[in-house]
Amino acid sequence: MATWSAPGKLFLFGEHAVVYGKPGIAMAIRPRVYVTVRKSSHAHHARSLYIEQCFKEMGVRGSVYINSQIPSSSGLGSSGAVTVATLAAINEEFNIGKTIHEIANLAFKIEKKVQKGRASPTDTSVSTYGGMFLILNGERKRLAPQNYQFVIGNSQISHSTSRMVERVAQFKEGDPSICNPIIDAIGGLSYQALQHIHDPIRLGELMDINHALLEALGVGHPALSRLVLACRQTGAYGAKITGAGGGGCMVALAPKNLKGRVAGAIEVFDGRAIITSLDCEGLRREEEG
Ligand code: PMV
Repeated sequence: MATWSAPGKLFLFGEHAVVYGKPGIAMAIRPRVYVTVRKSSHAHHARSLYIEQCFKEMGVRGSVYINSQIPSSSGLGSSGAVTVATLAAINEEFNIGKTIHEIANLAFKIEKKVQKGRASPTDTSVSTYGGMFLILNGERKRLAPQNYQFVIGNSQISHSTSRMVERVAQFKEGDPSICNPIIDAIGGLSYQALQHIHDPIRLGELMDINHALLEALGVGHPALSRLVLACRQTGAYGAKITGAGGGGCMVALAPKNLKGRVAGAIEVFDGRAIITSLDCEGLRREEEG
């Protein structure tokens, strides 16, 4: 029996634009998913395309048990975290000998396949390695860790990443002259954010602009807008959708002394608040016990 865990992820800037080779900034965050794999002739696992693909790619059969602190289908990268932790647990349980880099690459291949060819390596990289990254053209560059606290608001409206990615693809195909400049502008925000990474006030302003651009891309949701506005009104530096949108989560950057108030505002507007910060640890082997 082997148990591995992997952190969730938060897109600070650039979701959707990264699918088209633009830069994005993402980081690993505290809620984790724990995956236990056991050799068994009767394959017994959750009905998840991601997990099925993990066993298929590794060429083995076994049982899997998942204990996730990350709400699924919410934009916090639960599928990426489940995929990397499942691959790592299969790797140990069946003594396959893959390196951590091979696991990250294979996890990306699986995400891409399940999401019908449209995915960036963001979730799988962040969950594998932990920390904060600039994602550009499918490559990742590690960024210096930042000591910010974020308040996540889960709208509890389930979303489908592949459907949202598909929606943007249709917009891009149907109206390239409108859609492409929006995607370019989102890419520009990530570069700006890198230059102002130590300035929470400027980062907040950039997050607000990113939110408006995501709405313009068609991945907004009234429940997310309500949470974003509530966070700004209670003193957050800025707030935006995080992840694929259309439901799922938003994230606010708040002054440390106001994070409780911002979280309270999220709850008042029917969201579930999570106060979190950077997790520098990626994939982790869990001791049995
Ligand atoms: O909602 P999530 O956590 O699956 O994030 C999706 C982010 C996208 O940029 C829309 C897609 C991707 O693969 O990067």
